[in-house]
Amino acid sequence: MESNNQENLAGSLSGQDADESNLKLPYTQPHMELVQTGKIPSPKPFVKWAGGKRQLVNLLRCHSPSSFNCYVEPFVGGGAFLFSMLPEKAVISDVNPELINAYKVIRDDVEKLIRSLKRHRNEESYFYKVRAKHPVTMSTVQRASRFIFLNKTCFNGLYRENSKGQFNVPFGRYVNPNTVDEENLRAVSAYLNRAQLQILHQDYQQTVSNAQKGDFVYFDPPYYPISATASFTRYAKNDFNARNQEELAQAFHDLAGRGCQAMLSNSNTDFIKKLYREFSIIEIEATRFINCKAERRGKELVEILVKSY
Ligand SMILES: C[S@@+](CC[C@H](N)C(=O)[O-])C[C@H]1O[C@@H](n2cnc3c(N)ncnc32)[C@H](O)[C@@H]1O
Repeated sequence: MESNNQENLAGSLSGQDADESNLKLPYTQPHMELVQTGKIPSPKPFVKWAGGKRQLVNLLRCHSPSSFNCYVEPFVGGGAFLFSMLPEKAVISDVNPELINAYKVIRDDVEKLIRSLKRHRNEESYFYKVRAKHPVTMSTVQRASRFIFLNKTCFNGLYRENSKGQFNVPFGRYVNPNTVDEENLRAVSAYLNRAQLQILHQDYQQTVSNAQKGDFVYFDPPYYPISATASFTRYAKNDFNARNQEELAQAFHDLAGRGCQAMLSNSNTDFIKKLYREFSIIEIEATRFINCKAERRGKELVEILVKSY
């Protein structure tokens, strides 16, 4: 039985392609307008991601520039802010190859991906077999399917790799994980297809080097740890250390100097605040359900938002 499922996962994805006409929406309005008027479903992050910004999106929107040309997000992760803004023109990137492959497969092959996801089973031994597979031996659709399946069924729904770059989170034992959220995958696909959007697997430095005057760049890097034990910087096999934070601050300064509007999230630490002392810094409370006029008294301020404008 198990070997059959393994075959399904690694083997051919034959069969008719489903009708993908749902992606060719008969509208000319901006995607955001279609979502707001209820004509199409609103896309949401398709994976749970450490440091995901879902609960902060209202605050981020309040602090975003009122107009800009291209939206650039060089540490896109699960894309909570991207899916809340739905910009018509954007560049998104990340160093995690499985994540970026999944974005591209959702854009290009969502129906095949949905069929592949439906073949997975939420069973411990099957989970470990899928986890042990090396993604480079698989097709792009199978890789995206493996990545989403592992994210939905692993402990805490996180993506973490060991020093060899292997996914190492244990089985989550969830009773009914939502491994195939068809409606959302199609909603994400529709947006990725309609917007003028580039999806790139690369270091943030490369992405920002192409940003132009008038662009809005939002940085959500791995946070500088508040304490030695609070660190979660291992999204991919390279950690993001203090030296990387300094280089990032330099990139932020350069962008501001080139006439880009830059915004950054990070931890509320003296080290980070010093790096951005020339810019406007907003302290954000720990309970993340907040808006522009959040009541701050008595709350722990663990994050900051930095703005160059
Ligand atoms: C805090 S998470 C972003 C979370 C995202 N905003 C969300 O809502 O899910 C940081 C991301 O930076 C990526 N990353 C780490 N180092 C990077 C680098 N040097 N260049 C680009 N991306 C990097 C990680 O893979 C991770 O996805």
